[in-house]
Amino acid sequence: CGIVGYIGQKDSTEVLLKGLEKLEYRGYDSAGIATLNTDGMHVYKVKGRIAALRDKVDPAVTGEIGIGHTRWATHGEPSVENAHPHQSNNARFTLVHNGVIENFYEVRDQYLNGVALKSETDTEIIVQLIEVFFEETQDVLEAFRKAMLALKGSYAIALIDQENPDVIYVSKNKSPLLVGLGDGFNLVASDAMATLRETDRYLEIEDKEIVLVRKTHVEIQKFDGEEVVRAPFVAEIDAADTEKGTYPHFMLKEIDEQPFVIRKIIQEYQDENDAIKLDADIRKAMKKVDRIYIIAAGTSYHAGLVGKQFLEKLANIPVEVHIASEFSYNMPLLSEKPLFIFISQSGETADSRSVLVKIKELGHTALTVTNVPGSTLSREADHTLHLHAGPEIAVASTKAYTAQIAVLAILAVDTAKAKGIALDFDPLQELGIVASAMESLTDQKEEFEAIAKDMFATTPNAFYIGRGMDYFVVQEASLKLKEISYIQAEGFAGGELKHGTIALIEDGTPVIAISTQENVNYSIRGNVQEVEARGAKACVISLKGLDQDTDSFVLPHVHELLTPLVSVIPMQLLAYYAALHRDCDVDKPRNLAKSVTVE
Ligand code: G6P
Repeated sequence: CGIVGYIGQKDSTEVLLKGLEKLEYRGYDSAGIATLNTDGMHVYKVKGRIAALRDKVDPAVTGEIGIGHTRWATHGEPSVENAHPHQSNNARFTLVHNGVIENFYEVRDQYLNGVALKSETDTEIIVQLIEVFFEETQDVLEAFRKAMLALKGSYAIALIDQENPDVIYVSKNKSPLLVGLGDGFNLVASDAMATLRETDRYLEIEDKEIVLVRKTHVEIQKFDGEEVVRAPFVAEIDAADTEKGTYPHFMLKEIDEQPFVIRKIIQEYQDENDAIKLDADIRKAMKKVDRIYIIAAGTSYHAGLVGKQFLEKLANIPVEVHIASEFSYNMPLLSEKPLFIFISQSGETADSRSVLVKIKELGHTALTVTNVPGSTLSREADHTLHLHAGPEIAVASTKAYTAQIAVLAILAVDTAKAKGIALDFDPLQELGIVASAMESLTDQKEEFEAIAKDMFATTPNAFYIGRGMDYFVVQEASLKLKEISYIQAEGFAGGELKHGTIALIEDGTPVIAISTQENVNYSIRGNVQEVEARGAKACVISLKGLDQDTDSFVLPHVHELLTPLVSVIPMQLLAYYAALHRDCDVDKPRNLAKSVTVE
């Protein structure tokens, strides 16, 4: 979910709507805003997108204070009733919330007996609780504080009080929230991208703080009332990077940006002698570990699978890659000197963050690899490696994946060197070759559009197969296809297909095979034969030098270790064109959110 708030001298409506449009990637099943003026509170809510909300809002109604929300449903289906903002029964308090209240039932049963609830959300209980505590205390700040103390779980909250148009009450725990600082106005936002048009100066809010956001000043205090002083930071995001320009979709723009991102990474991680430039503390931390635990979700998890290969093969460190949401229950036996690497485009994924909190409690060291340096996972880890990919807006991740792999390759080689391992692999130079290869692929979009039309026009399902390094890429390829085209897809280890899944192959079932590794070229082609013999429609994408006449596409040659960086580009484009031709919403696929800040 995404939150935005404004208090200042102009009408808040447009700031809120524009902000929500920028936050829509965080969830988009329903949305709402509340603005306050001398006539009272005006609340507009819709099921669906911000565009629908814009249509619903009465342009004649203005208010110099307001809050807005775009939702990714957790408790309760997407509907107008469940959309935020939520109001207390006396309509005095209006609130937006991102997160999940874990003690929802306890709070309801303990404090809200006899209070009629209008929605199925965990959020409504917060605002009702504030009303109940206000009845007791007759002090809004005290009621807000008491409510925060009663809640367990994750939340980022902004509250306005109908009787006091001078302040937005804000608090957070585990969920992201920032205060934006302006001249004669101030803002609240889930991330800086939402309000970059208004300001580039932001204040971080830490967990369990209460912030009183007024027109001209912002006051931070801990739950016990102790005042907190914090210097603002400047968000280094170019507002133009958050626009899609002439592209029809952010996803296509971000696919095309990949060669530039790789070149930017080379530049950022290279010193004046063309050697790797990396924080000395990270080098020191990496040098002394006996095992690395990579924690990530979704596409970042897939990048982690590739990163493991670099760290093991080049730096000789054993690596385990774990899905963040499973780690707490299936926690492995940790080695004596572990290091945790969190891979996260957004740096906000709640599943990953909960592992970070846990391993920090255990006293372990964490390194976050992220595209957002000021993000929660970055701030709370000991070290950060920045992806330099620029804002990624399309829900389906593309350039962050390739950036993650590139940065992990650099990290692995740097660690190998620090450990005195001799390598004849210069990642910066090889990444330069990769960038050019990527460019040649993004220049041949019509090839992939044709393959996508041929393979995916009407099919209900599809299979991707690969071995070795290619196995990791086919997992990402199938996720991309599923996410945006809704075709049921599976990425399989070429050799494993025959042990069950091959039963699903019928006449015309699409099977896409990747072959970029010399040692498995022969065997993956054997697997292609097996599926073709059972009626599958196969498409082989191979690396130059390993290609055969019947292959659908031949990838330019790059170093064997870095092939995922090029083989994934056709996979991204195939998914893109499949979704496009099936009339799917490429940038905002159904049911998803880019940054999932609930566990
Ligand atoms: C969400 C997105 C995925 C993404 C995953 C991890 O589920 O829809 O595209 O890969 O979160 O996000 P992160 O920001 O931690 O990389």
